[in-house]
Amino acid sequence: MSLFRKKSLSQLMTQSDDTEKGLKRTLGPGNLVALGIGAIIGAGLFVRTAAAAGEHAGPAVTISFIIAALGCAFAGLCYAEFAAMIPVAGSAYTYAYATMGEFIAWTIGWSLILEYALGAATVSIAWSEYLNNLLGGVIPYQWCHSPFEMSTLGVHGIMNLPALIVLFLITLLLIKGTQESAVVNAIIVFVKVAIVLVFIVIGWGFMKESNHTPYIIPDNTPGYEGVFQHGWGGILSGAAIVFFAFIGFDAVSTAAQEAKNPKRDMPIGILGSLVVCTILYILFSHVLTGVAPYTDFVDPEKGKEASVAYVISHYMIGYEWLSTAVTVAILAGFSSVILVMLMGQSRVFFSMANDGLLPKAFSELHPRFRTPYKSNIILFVFVGAFAAFVPGSVAGDLTSIGTLFAFVLVSAGIWLLRISDPKLVRPFKTPLVPLVPILGILVCLAMIISLPTDTQLSAFGWMLLGFIVYFLYGAKNSKLNPLNKK
Ligand code: ALA
Repeated sequence: MSLFRKKSLSQLMTQSDDTEKGLKRTLGPGNLVALGIGAIIGAGLFVRTAAAAGEHAGPAVTISFIIAALGCAFAGLCYAEFAAMIPVAGSAYTYAYATMGEFIAWTIGWSLILEYALGAATVSIAWSEYLNNLLGGVIPYQWCHSPFEMSTLGVHGIMNLPALIVLFLITLLLIKGTQESAVVNAIIVFVKVAIVLVFIVIGWGFMKESNHTPYIIPDNTPGYEGVFQHGWGGILSGAAIVFFAFIGFDAVSTAAQEAKNPKRDMPIGILGSLVVCTILYILFSHVLTGVAPYTDFVDPEKGKEASVAYVISHYMIGYEWLSTAVTVAILAGFSSVILVMLMGQSRVFFSMANDGLLPKAFSELHPRFRTPYKSNIILFVFVGAFAAFVPGSVAGDLTSIGTLFAFVLVSAGIWLLRISDPKLVRPFKTPLVPLVPILGILVCLAMIISLPTDTQLSAFGWMLLGFIVYFLYGAKNSKLNPLNKK
């Protein structure tokens, strides 16, 4: 058995050209940028930004965004080269299969489950919180929290029902078809971006110089004495937190097999959505911390929860109506993040099953809708279990570590392939190789190291489980296994 057997690029391309059996090519560049923004703007911006400012970075959370964006940009440039060269469903998993061999591909595929499946679970949990907020807290605590959570009054959670319901509805939509899903996604993206812009424009007039002074939290600030709670240390740990807000731009690459002109449109989709979101994030966080003092975001009586709605209703006098509108838009926005994450995950499973590394059920298409419906249903059960029974913070941290790990391997892959196969036709070339991949690896590794030890251990356990599954199932059933060749 060879751990390093590779799928040839020509095999991959034949597979992607096989439109009879394959997924439908329906997505243009606009759809792809929308898909990216749909996956990117979500709980990271509307929940984690205030936490990062309040607990670590203060107004300089804008700099945290720049650092996280740099890490994503380096990795994104590498993703773009791969996605244009190998326009096949499956994203980083597929690229690794062609360049670094089956075992590394499996490892990436397994860590992408953390990113997409747990990412969807995390955002569905945030969706449930905001829904309850919109409904004025009518959902009983035990039915919107996991069994690992307890209220200040001592009520234990049983299961997170709203999270489960939103996952179910989005699964139905995905089974219906990619084109329909893309249309719904585009509408939501429009609403989401509009609300961010409205907040920036209206909020700009309510900013106070005093809230931005000093811009970086000084080291003698009471309550902010820790190394990662003021100055540049605070900005760095803020970056690790707001990194979650960028997760998803790579999801564009999972739809490569459904893109009409992947060679041109993949880099546009990936880098375009990243640039748009970075600009919006910096402006948004600048206004958020300019309108309210960052210390409000650690106070449970003030803006610790539903921070954006809080800032509007408390500081933007005359615009209280905007608070409800923002909450509704946030709910819609979270839905599109869940949609793209679930879609990305089913496409990764699709590729892994096509290669024999997972059971065939994951690659079977619906006879009429041509979507991997069985995979969508199995995924709903798996993601739903996490959403219903695991706290959002646990799922969120695991999402980040899985993503960062995949970024590291993709960056390494680009570098490796330039050495091993310099003559390959590359419609889009990552600039300054190996500098860009090396910087991508370093920035992402730094963020992995700054995540909590529990998260690192859980992720390690998940990877071990993955290796067991690989050796018991994948390695034997792989289509590249000589014993399976007809
Ligand atoms: N980037 C996505 C979000 O912020 C995962 O919700």
